[in-house]
Amino acid sequence: MIFVLTGAGLSAESGLGTFRDAGGLWSRYDLEEVATPRGFAANPHLVHDFYNARRANAAGAAPNAAHHALARLQAAREVMLVTQNVDDLLERAGARDVLHMHGRLGGALCADCGARWEAPLVMSPDDPCPECGAAATRPDVVWFGEMPTGLDEIDAGLARATLFVALGTSGTVYPAAGFVEMARAAGTPTLELNLEPSGGRFDDGRYGPASEIVPGWVDGLLA
Ligand code: APR
Ligand code: ZN
Repeated sequence: MIFVLTGAGLSAESGLGTFRDAGGLWSRYDLEEVATPRGFAANPHLVHDFYNARRANAAGAAPNAAHHALARLQAAREVMLVTQNVDDLLERAGARDVLHMHGRLGGALCADCGARWEAPLVMSPDDPCPECGAAATRPDVVWFGEMPTGLDEIDAGLARATLFVALGTSGTVYPAAGFVEMARAAGTPTLELNLEPSGGRFDDGRYGPASEIVPGWVDGLLA
């Protein structure tokens, strides 16, 4: 089973911003204000504006050749796709069972009762929860200081992977940043696919834009 961890670099060429590259989201927004529970409590409208803009951007974007290559690989081999990304470009490229460990722009969550539903394109904190009616609607994404989702499934996947691939991620945010070390500890070969080395310890690496290097890597595997 091939375990693929993806980050913002996978969707960069689809026009969705990365976080820490030059001009990245965290150079233009204060993550404390828009990506923490404290920020949401202080100014829910600002947080919804931030995610409404990202949701509109993602809705107008298209999967790139790297998304399509991963879907092609998953159709031919056992592949576990774990993404830190909140966009749905992998699903729109035909990938299945994508594990969004940082949640999804397409999801809405009630901060009061925990109800989840599919998010409209534009959300407001005043939207009443369909379950309890509270005006406590938030994006169903994982903020700093919150627990990512799917960690048990991820641990199980890392334990039985025959190859670990980190694609388009800077390896700066835990627990995702620690997965490569978990794979190494399990004796699993590790590969980095990125624009440039992230500094993580990988057995092998291929570097360049994802839309170029990922299709080539998949073609090599399926040859
Ligand atoms: N092709 C391949 N890799 C790319 C490309 C590209 N065209 N463009 C950028 N990259 C790489 C960068 O080299 C970098 O390693 O994508 C990575 C982007 O790093 P970050 O912006 O830190 O994004 P990511 O690693 O996904 O961030 C992890 O941090 O803020 C949180 O929740 C957020 O999920 C995010 C997490
Ligand atoms: Zn509710």
